[in-house]
Amino acid sequence: MRREEKKRGRNDLCWCGSGKKYKKCHLAEDQNGSFSSSSAQGVIRKEWIQTPEEIEGVKKAACFNALLMDHIRSHVRAGISTEKLDDLIRIFTQDHGHIPACLNYKGGYPKSSCISVNEVVCHGIPKNDVILKEGDIVNIDITSIVNGFHGDQSETFLIGKVADHAKKLVIEAANAMIEGIGCVAPGVSFSKIGEVIEDYVERFGYSTVKDYTGHGIGKAFHEDPPIYHFRNTESSRYLMAPGMIFTVEPMVNEGTWKVELDRQDRWTVRTLDRKLSAQFEHTVLVTQNGFEILTLTPSQIQAGKICHLATHPNNISIKK
Ligand code: MF3
Ligand code: CO
Ligand code: CO
Repeated sequence: MRREEKKRGRNDLCWCGSGKKYKKCHLAEDQNGSFSSSSAQGVIRKEWIQTPEEIEGVKKAACFNALLMDHIRSHVRAGISTEKLDDLIRIFTQDHGHIPACLNYKGGYPKSSCISVNEVVCHGIPKNDVILKEGDIVNIDITSIVNGFHGDQSETFLIGKVADHAKKLVIEAANAMIEGIGCVAPGVSFSKIGEVIEDYVERFGYSTVKDYTGHGIGKAFHEDPPIYHFRNTESSRYLMAPGMIFTVEPMVNEGTWKVELDRQDRWTVRTLDRKLSAQFEHTVLVTQNGFEILTLTPSQIQAGKICHLATHPNNISIKK
C-alpha cells in the first residue's frame, strides 16, 4: 500500500473509526502511549488484535488464496499474456464463490490481480499485449475475499532461463521476506521486520522500496499497522501481540529504492532507474510463541515449504 496514505494529520479522521478528527480523538493517547497496554518496551495496540472469529475468517481466505496461487503457478510460462493469467485468477475465484479483492479496488483498479514484470515494482495492470518471455521475472500478487475476509500473497517467477543477476535478485527477495517473517513473535517491535530485511538485502547491494509497505489485513484489505521493509523509528514503539495479522511483502530493487508512478494509468509503479525489482508476500498471524504463515496450502504446510524459490526452503519452521 502507498505509504503516504498512512501519514495521519491532526485534522484527518482518527484511525479508530469514531468519525472524529484525530486531534480530538486518539492523538494525545498515541503521543503519550497511554492507549492500550504500554510498558518500557513499547505499546500494544489492542485494536490491531483480531478476534478469534476474525482470525478464523482470515485463515480461510488466506488458505483459499494459496490454493489459487498453486493453480496459477502451472500456467506461468513464456508465451502467456498477463491478461490471460488475470482471467484465470478471476475465473477460479468466482467459480469458488469468492471475490478478487483487487477488482475495482478503491473504485478504480481494473483487474483481479497485479502482475509486475521486470522493472515494474508493484501494481502492474494485466494486459493482453504484455506477453511473458524467456528471461523475464514476473511478480503475481493475488488477494481474495472469502466470506468478507482477506488473504494476500505474491510470488516472483522466473520465465525460462533468466540471467544470473536477475535470478539472484529473485532468490534474495524471497529470502528477505523469510528473514522478515522469521522475527515475528509477541513482544517484538514492528521495526524489527524492516531492520532485518534492509540489513539482509544490503549485503548484496540491493535496496528495499520505501514508498509502499505491508499492512494489517482482515475484514479490510489494507488495515493498520503499516509494515515497513526498511530501518525506521516510526514503528519502533509498537509491539507485536498474539492475534495480530499482517503482510510481510518486501519489494527488493537491484538499484535505487526510488520508484515512479505511471503518469497515464496512475497504478503501475516502476523503479526510477529501470533496473529490476522482485517481491514476495505472505499473510502472517502472530501466535502465542511466534508466527503462522496463513497463505499456504495444506500440502505446503505438510512439506514445510513456505516459498517455491527460497534457497533454503526449510530454513524456518512454519509454526514457531
Ligand atoms: N496486493 C497488493 C498488496 O499487497 C495491493 C494491490 S491493490 C490494487 O497490498 F488495487 F493495486 F490491486
Ligand atoms: Co498483495
Ligand atoms: Co499486501
